[in-house]
Amino acid sequence: FHVPPAVNEPIKSYAPGSPEREEVLNTYKELYNSTVEVPCYINGKEVKTGDTATMHPPHDHKHTLGTYHKATRENVEEAIEGSLKARQEWADLPWEQRAAVFLRAAELIAGPYRAKINAATMLAQSKTIFQAEIDSACELIDFLRFNVEYMTQIFDDQPESTSEAWNRVEYRPLEGFVYAITPFNFTAIAGNLPASAALMGNVALWKPSDSQVYSAQVVMEVFKEAGVPDGVINMVMGDPVMISDVAISHPDFTGLHFTGSTNVFQDLWKTIGNNIHTYKTYPRIVGETGGKDFIMAHKSADAKQVATAIARGAFEFQGQKCSACSRCYIPKSLWADVKKYLVEDVKSFKMGSPEDMGNFVTAVIHEGSFDKLASYIDKAKEDKDAEIIVGGNYDKSKGWFVEPTVIVTDNPKYTTMQTELFGPVVTIYVYEDEEFDDTLKLVDETSIYALTGSIFSTDRHAAAHATKALQNCAGNFYINDKCTGAVVGQQPFGGARASGTNDKAGSKLNLLRWVSPRLIKETF
Ligand code: ALA
Repeated sequence: FHVPPAVNEPIKSYAPGSPEREEVLNTYKELYNSTVEVPCYINGKEVKTGDTATMHPPHDHKHTLGTYHKATRENVEEAIEGSLKARQEWADLPWEQRAAVFLRAAELIAGPYRAKINAATMLAQSKTIFQAEIDSACELIDFLRFNVEYMTQIFDDQPESTSEAWNRVEYRPLEGFVYAITPFNFTAIAGNLPASAALMGNVALWKPSDSQVYSAQVVMEVFKEAGVPDGVINMVMGDPVMISDVAISHPDFTGLHFTGSTNVFQDLWKTIGNNIHTYKTYPRIVGETGGKDFIMAHKSADAKQVATAIARGAFEFQGQKCSACSRCYIPKSLWADVKKYLVEDVKSFKMGSPEDMGNFVTAVIHEGSFDKLASYIDKAKEDKDAEIIVGGNYDKSKGWFVEPTVIVTDNPKYTTMQTELFGPVVTIYVYEDEEFDDTLKLVDETSIYALTGSIFSTDRHAAAHATKALQNCAGNFYINDKCTGAVVGQQPFGGARASGTNDKAGSKLNLLRWVSPRLIKETF
């Protein structure tokens, strides 16, 4: 199969004076000064129900970006029925046509939509331009491009044939519709979850996070302009419990493509289990859920390298990456140096609005997240087994700002060593150098989640030992690198344990979940 070679989209620099910097800042201002009304997108129609919610930038929560319309139960039912009608024609389309639609979507984002999708992500999710560029431009483009290549690799996987029997596998889409629930933290994930299922010939009902509707709308505009036919991807917002109830109690529900919290995923799975006898097919359940990602250092590691990895891994993207570092294990002999470099780094981080290019961190997503983080920080200020060595302030007067905060504890089971906070707070446990093996065991025992993790070591035996001992603690494991920054096409991404089904976003494994292969044997 010959398809355009998948290449990672180069990250633009947004250097002072560059045209891309001027364009994105102008677009940001234009969007900030206008108001939008986001409809539900149902079978080619823009549906405005009149039941609306307002949207606000997290860094400027008194400002209104506009409203979005919430779907009724009937709207969701209509979306599902319409997509089922659109399904056969889409499934029957030659795969090249479906691939071309999503390759065109990639090029639209790389070109004419780049400033808009980045500015919308800066406003909706308070990302700096550098964060937005990595997410809503490059990562989304990469997903769209690499998925096409992976699709052809799947088609290429064919059984042996003989002169008497020709065996071939037809990778058909699933029979029904796929339900995609997407998170606020990555516009790229929001685009990829419905698009990957649709690329394989499925139709999708997409429910974006309430906190991300503003940038999800731009993704939807791109899909439409790229030629995704009416009904193939419908986008509905509103009461998540109602939408999920309609979707997963439908007999044609055939797959869940989910990124979000562990609890919601487990509840959905339970309901799907209860409904199992009502479906036409066994649904595919694919989820990326919580995380409590770690960085561990061996005494042979370089202290500066470790400190930089913690600062970047924990605080880039306000700690709101699924992969963000939130607990660390540092040997005593390295600690004084790691602490010095880490505190220096964190103190140098400027916090503020994303349109000020000098800011490294911005606001967290919403009040609920702000309150949660503030309460854990307050607790750490009081608890005897915790000490805040840098950060610890928060301010919600203009936006949901939480300072990058480092907690040190002598209790490896301290609450913030175990609880997912999803924000700019990292907790560090300092272990005795000779307790490296025990600490590896401890990391394994306390890893309820298993998404990302890192070992820093210049001693190959220690690195190898840690890689083995921590084999079940992270779906993405890094040696001498921070635990964030997976690039599509290079580090397929996903975790196990309570972090998900580990069907690696942006990989053949993931796309295989959206097909139901038929073996055809023909004899002569
Ligand atoms: N690609 C993102 C990371 O690994 C999720 O940080």
